[in-house]
Amino acid sequence: MINLLFDEDNKQNAKILTDVIKRSYLASITADIIIELKCKKMKIINNDSNPPATIDLGYKKTHDEFAIFKKLFPMVNTNILDCTGGLCVDSLKLSKMGYNVTVIEENPIIVMLLRKLLEKEIINNFRVYHGNSFEFLKECNKRFEYIYIDTMFSKTKKKSKSKKEIEMLKILCREKISTYNLISQARKKALERVVSKAPIHSSAKIPIADFTISTKLIKYNIYNLMSTKCL
Ligand SMILES: C[S@@+](CC[C@H](N)C(=O)[O-])C[C@H]1O[C@@H](n2cnc3c(N)ncnc32)[C@H](O)[C@@H]1O
Repeated sequence: MINLLFDEDNKQNAKILTDVIKRSYLASITADIIIELKCKKMKIINNDSNPPATIDLGYKKTHDEFAIFKKLFPMVNTNILDCTGGLCVDSLKLSKMGYNVTVIEENPIIVMLLRKLLEKEIINNFRVYHGNSFEFLKECNKRFEYIYIDTMFSKTKKKSKSKKEIEMLKILCREKISTYNLISQARKKALERVVSKAPIHSSAKIPIADFTISTKLIKYNIYNLMSTKCL
């Protein structure tokens, strides 16, 4: 079950979260999760993990630093819509690279966590919206050069902090969308490319990609739109 600990400054945030949790599948979560809201900080703690695991947001440096994203999104300083924000490891990297990033995330707890991060760190080319990206794509008039979809929860061999974070994300998020439909809708709205991340041996039904870029564990399916097809 999810319990909240909060200070006076976060009374309103705590009220909003309590209401949202009560009215959603989050009320049925059995894991012992604590959400701590203190000053400008928010922590999610999983007490079922030994030792208890916490989610830590922020820009994470990795060894493949930027290389793959340069291939996936070749036009610099363009607009990217990330339809599946999560902990925004990918989109924070993309904003660091100079892209103008819009993130959609449907989990209210994750969204509040991201907003807390943005209260502490001013990132001008990064914004977060709460909602379902399929609906957002249907309604939104703004066009994005690139649309990114990552419904996969990556497998890591390490018993590392990041693995524990992914485990917690899995507990908190319930995948309801059909990736096939999301990719199809994104293809109607992207100006240049839709990129969908999948496990290397994924058998999920998705539209046939124009081409793929693979790493040891991950396959990026790439759907080019008209302008790039004509090059
Ligand atoms: C695997 S995680 C994404 C990880 C992310 N790429 C990162 O770097 O941290 C998938 C996230 O997408 C969110 N999600 C799944 N379907 C969605 C949808 N239709 N609209 C908005 N968010 C969605 C889930 O709540 C979850 O947080």
